[in-house]
Amino acid sequence: MEQKTITRKDFLTSTSKYAVGAVAGVAGLNMLAGGKLMAGSKTFDWPYPYTALDPEAVRIKAHTLYWNEKDCCAGTFGGITDLLAESMGEPWTSFPIEVMLFGRGGGVGWGSICGCLNGGAALISLVTEKGPSGALINELWGWYTTEMLPTDAANEATYEVQNYVGDLPQNISGSPLCHSSVSQWCNVAGKKVADIERKERCARITGDIAAKTVEILNDYFAGTFTGTFVDPETVAACMTCHGSAVLGNVMTHMECTSCHGDPHDTSGIENVGGITTNYKLEQNYPNPFNPTTNIKFSIPQQGKVRLEIYDIQGKLINSIIDSEYLNAGNYETKWNGTDNAGRKVSSGIYFARLTSQDYMKTIKMNLIK
Ligand code: HEC
Ligand code: HEC
Repeated sequence: MEQKTITRKDFLTSTSKYAVGAVAGVAGLNMLAGGKLMAGSKTFDWPYPYTALDPEAVRIKAHTLYWNEKDCCAGTFGGITDLLAESMGEPWTSFPIEVMLFGRGGGVGWGSICGCLNGGAALISLVTEKGPSGALINELWGWYTTEMLPTDAANEATYEVQNYVGDLPQNISGSPLCHSSVSQWCNVAGKKVADIERKERCARITGDIAAKTVEILNDYFAGTFTGTFVDPETVAACMTCHGSAVLGNVMTHMECTSCHGDPHDTSGIENVGGITTNYKLEQNYPNPFNPTTNIKFSIPQQGKVRLEIYDIQGKLINSIIDSEYLNAGNYETKWNGTDNAGRKVSSGIYFARLTSQDYMKTIKMNLIK
């Protein structure tokens, strides 16, 4: 008879199939790792033990693993665990580094978090308590986003696997994302993703991150680690409002402007002073105009503002103010007769439309050449 639900009693008293299962729950990893139950084997508690390693030896090992089907994430992780296994034996000897294979290409090619960073962070999480691990991982990930990679040390090392020999171009990615990091490097180096140089670049970075992880851990366990990571000023500036103290709607250490630009960029919008109690969009001046005209508007309360230019067919020509957040006040900006791509538009009638909160008003403007 098929049982859909298995009670605790079934578990304990039923056939050997369940009995093994019950013991597996206790023996955990040991049984799973070996594929069979090892009676009396020792269970290792988390965090796993660590011993100081030579970063340069780890670098070479990680690079070798990259080229031996382990790729970036398991390569970084395994570069460290292989050497821990050599010096400590268990539990490292039986830890399957393949658990980290998913992280290659920022997660099987998704280009999200760089696999090396994933691999290094997983290792840190395995050997340190949750509390301090955050600072160590921040140090590693922050370093990656601000460093010239591959490092000089990576370019100068002598590797076991020599699929490409010679210096590789270096760049600062500014981002922990595999996608930004790889694509920007390809751009700088003039290479394609499938090129041997790009693969060697990621192999060298695998070594870089493994070596850096070990440096951080060596310091941490020697009691000499001092974290240097802080949010870049540009991120901190955005977080003064978007962080938990005020708006509380953003959680990231990544460079905001790399994706958003600056949505609050009010350059070209001048606050002309004075207070206002009404929404207003004034007639542009001069009008008719060529090539530039001034547009004045007022908003009585802080809010998102859009000022857009449409042609006579109702087609959007230029988003002069694209959902920027302005304080209450009187403003003046310009339209220089161009579209969003910066091309001069032809003579004719155009409309400027101001939108903020529930307010919307349109004025008619005449461009003559
Ligand atoms: C002075 C405070 C302040 C600062 C500094 C600030 N923001 Fe904002 N931001 C706001 C407010 C308020 C909103 C509007 C929230 C809403 O619409 O719910 C907003 C909205 C946004 C939005 C949504 C825009 C939209 O169109 O809805 C983005 C994206 C954003 N901010 C990004 C940034 C970035 C990037 C930075 C740093 C370059 C930054 N903010 C700095 C206060 C700020
Ligand atoms: C890797 C790209 C990326 C980075 C880096 C990033 N964001 Fe975003 N952010 C997005 C995407 C994508 C969305 C969702 C789509 C959207 O609304 O633009 C979003 C949404 C938002 C929103 C809500 C937008 C809305 O319409 O209300 C705010 C606010 C915001 N981000 C602010 C920030 C701030 C501040 C930072 C830096 C501390 C930041 N973002 C970093 C990609 C990014």
